[in-house]
Amino acid sequence: MSSHTSYALAHPNIAFIKYWGNRDDDLRLPANGSISMNLEGLETRTRVDFDDSLSADELRINRESPDNSATERVSRMLDEVRQLAGMQLFARVESHNNFPLGAGIASSASGFAALAMAASQAAGLELDEASLSCLARHGSGSACRSIPGGFVEWKMGTGDADSFAIAIASPGYWDLEDCIAMLSSAPKVTGSSVGNRLAGTSPLQAARVIDAPRRLAICRDAILGRDFGTFASIVEEDSNLMHAVMMTSRPSLFYWLPETLRVMQAVKAARAQGLPACYTVDAGPNVHVLCERSAVQETVKLVESLPGVREIRLAKAGGPARLVENSPRAEDGS
Ligand code: DP6
Repeated sequence: MSSHTSYALAHPNIAFIKYWGNRDDDLRLPANGSISMNLEGLETRTRVDFDDSLSADELRINRESPDNSATERVSRMLDEVRQLAGMQLFARVESHNNFPLGAGIASSASGFAALAMAASQAAGLELDEASLSCLARHGSGSACRSIPGGFVEWKMGTGDADSFAIAIASPGYWDLEDCIAMLSSAPKVTGSSVGNRLAGTSPLQAARVIDAPRRLAICRDAILGRDFGTFASIVEEDSNLMHAVMMTSRPSLFYWLPETLRVMQAVKAARAQGLPACYTVDAGPNVHVLCERSAVQETVKLVESLPGVREIRLAKAGGPARLVENSPRAEDGS
């Protein structure tokens, strides 16, 4: 009997300049570049075990067997790893998240980043950061940004080999905090893979994409210059643009709840009064309120006073995906 096991950990990330829409859906070559921050404290831990006693890949997420489509998506990544390593063994994959699935915190990002790292290592491949980021991207676009640490930019690239993410600043470079207002932990109605495929049906997507280099440059410079005011305006503009595309896709996608808009408006009003905080919303109802660390307490106070906010999670900039010693089982003592 032979088996090859590895464990890896990856953080989800929050995009400041969003990825929405592909120029190649199968390879997940994005229509535009994007910028994000990894979220410390939130994590997926994944154990991959290639084992010659298995007759098919097996997947468990948070100790449950997910539906076939999730297993197929994971198997596609395992196929790529098997092909690169020239091996045929099936794998047992166990993945644990410490945050709710499918609720506006991108579990697919940390999930596929941790899977890419654990699977490639278990298969004996020694991939560099760029190749790992590309592999993660094939599973989920935003996952490529969870491979490097801190503040990260996914360069759209010219093709499969050069569309990967790089760190633009280390986690400690800027004291930014994500105060995540959880409005609903129900899984979203339309997953982002389906949504991404609809982006091109909106007449607004072309305008959004053509303007992306400008937004990327402003956001990158604002991060590097720790310029919160400029950062806040461009992050909100970019989130609004993506949701305008979603709402005008065919069929239209509405990810917001009424409470989502309330939080957005309250944050905008508080910033006008001097609070260094801004909002961004992904493909779900929760609002990520980004603020300078000095304003965390005041931001939490504001957000928790708003209707519909069930829980708040705080996250500063997190590190890169990495190999870990503990199995997911050992982690929670089972
Ligand atoms: C709204 O990366 O989840 O979070 O590639 O189909 O897995 P797939 O999509 P995904 O899309 C993320 C979209 C977003 C914005 C972002 O994270 O950039």
